[in-house]
Amino acid sequence: MTDTVLVTYGTTNGATAEIAEAVADVLRKDGLTAEALPARSVTDVARYDAVVVGAGLYGGRWHKDARRFVRRHRAALAERPVWLFSSGPLDASAAERDIPPVRGVRRVMIRLDVRDHVTFGGCLEEGAKGRIAGMILRSGKGGDFRDFGTIGAWAQGIAGSLKSS
Ligand SMILES: Cc1cc2nc3c(=O)[nH]c(=O)nc-3n(C[C@H](O)[C@H](O)[C@H](O)COP(=O)(O)O)c2cc1C
Repeated sequence: MTDTVLVTYGTTNGATAEIAEAVADVLRKDGLTAEALPARSVTDVARYDAVVVGAGLYGGRWHKDARRFVRRHRAALAERPVWLFSSGPLDASAAERDIPPVRGVRRVMIRLDVRDHVTFGGCLEEGAKGRIAGMILRSGKGGDFRDFGTIGAWAQGIAGSLKSS
């Protein structure tokens, strides 16, 4: 039987959801079973062998849906391999260097068997919700800084690790 992986995410404007879908696609191409689901909608993680949790960054914190997901499922997550990703910077910084997890995520990493965390570039485009999003866009600082090549390579690492264990 192949491992079944949950790729779950907290998102406001959909950028993180698309990253999660890309991760799940790669896992499936590598022969695993993978489901990408919003963190808000997941009620049970018992049937998954491994979990990937991703979140957009808002004001230096993970999106609340991902924070709540980790709190709600802490016991089950502690018994499974977990990978984390953040989606945030609206510039090239994530492509240039490793961006460490924000404080709340560092705390999660201490408590759970987290195999890896990565910060991917973010995306903010016309039509994004919220007053601050509008201000960022008007100041010309929006854009799509996600690198799906890097995201795919990271997902392949997860697949390799699960298949070898
Ligand atoms: C109100 C607001 C606050 C943000 N705060 C941060 C932040 O603290 N750190 C960061 O790297 N990116 C920040 N960003 C950029 C978002 O994290 C980025 O757009 C991300 O890809 C959004 O993911 P989502 O579309 O899945 O919600 C912020 C964006 C907005 C609109």
